[in-house]
Amino acid sequence: MNGILYFSSTGNSLQIAKQVKQKLGGDIFYIPNYTGTGTEFDKIIIVTPVYSFGMPKHVLDLLPKLDKTKKLIVIQNYGGMMLGADYLFYQYASRLGLNIVAMYKIKMPENFTLVMSPPNFYTKRILKLSENRISKVLDKIINGKYTLPKRKKTHEKTYLKNKDNWHLIGQRFSVTDACIKCGKCVDLCPSHNIYLKDGKIAFKDDCVACLGCFHRCPAKAIIYNNKDNKKRYINPNVPENEIGKDL
Ligand SMILES: Cc1cc2nc3c(=O)[nH]c(=O)nc-3n(C[C@H](O)[C@H](O)[C@H](O)COP(=O)(O)O)c2cc1C
Repeated sequence: MNGILYFSSTGNSLQIAKQVKQKLGGDIFYIPNYTGTGTEFDKIIIVTPVYSFGMPKHVLDLLPKLDKTKKLIVIQNYGGMMLGADYLFYQYASRLGLNIVAMYKIKMPENFTLVMSPPNFYTKRILKLSENRISKVLDKIINGKYTLPKRKKTHEKTYLKNKDNWHLIGQRFSVTDACIKCGKCVDLCPSHNIYLKDGKIAFKDDCVACLGCFHRCPAKAIIYNNKDNKKRYINPNVPENEIGKDL
């Protein structure tokens, strides 16, 4: 059985993981809740977004725990510019002695909308193309067309610096009176960074910058830098309540 391990805050990686399961078979596990080493699987398939030309913290933390004898396939997805994130992932996996056999990348809609948002028509177009793009990658895997990234410049320093600063994003979030105190953000936060304090939503200092709370708050009550002028995004091709679940 394939173990499909994914990280996702807005559903793009889950859309890919579900298509992997449909075409290649296997079971889907949400990385922040996954406590295994992958030993139980024939192959490990990681589906991950690119974060700051690297990878999310939960994916980085998973790598050293994985069974080195299992074949590892990685499908990265990104919103705009990967800048060597594929080769950086490959380097990290190789240094750990993981049996990484193939890597693929797929462009999906951008969810880092705190600085700049792409126009809606562009996001729609990327979504329209996504199923076909994912299918093409899966055909390559089925046909044994395994590829690994060629040596290229990475942005490891920027990645590591940004990663160290991701916790600051949580500090720049605040909650408006629109909050209905449903507790959804508390439940979905992969780093348990959000809690209820005196009946109000509060943030600790462990934000991993996934922006899940910001994008998925049903009342759009979480705002960044005290301004409510940033676009929110949730992948419409998956049921939102499946994001973060094992399937
Ligand atoms: C903190 C953060 C950093 C990101 N950095 C990059 C990046 O360096 N390059 C890029 O192309 N996309 C970047 N993105 C966009 C995501 O990789 C992309 O939208 C991805 O499809 C989101 O997947 P998800 O919906 O499964 O969470 C970033 C997103 C976040 C939240």
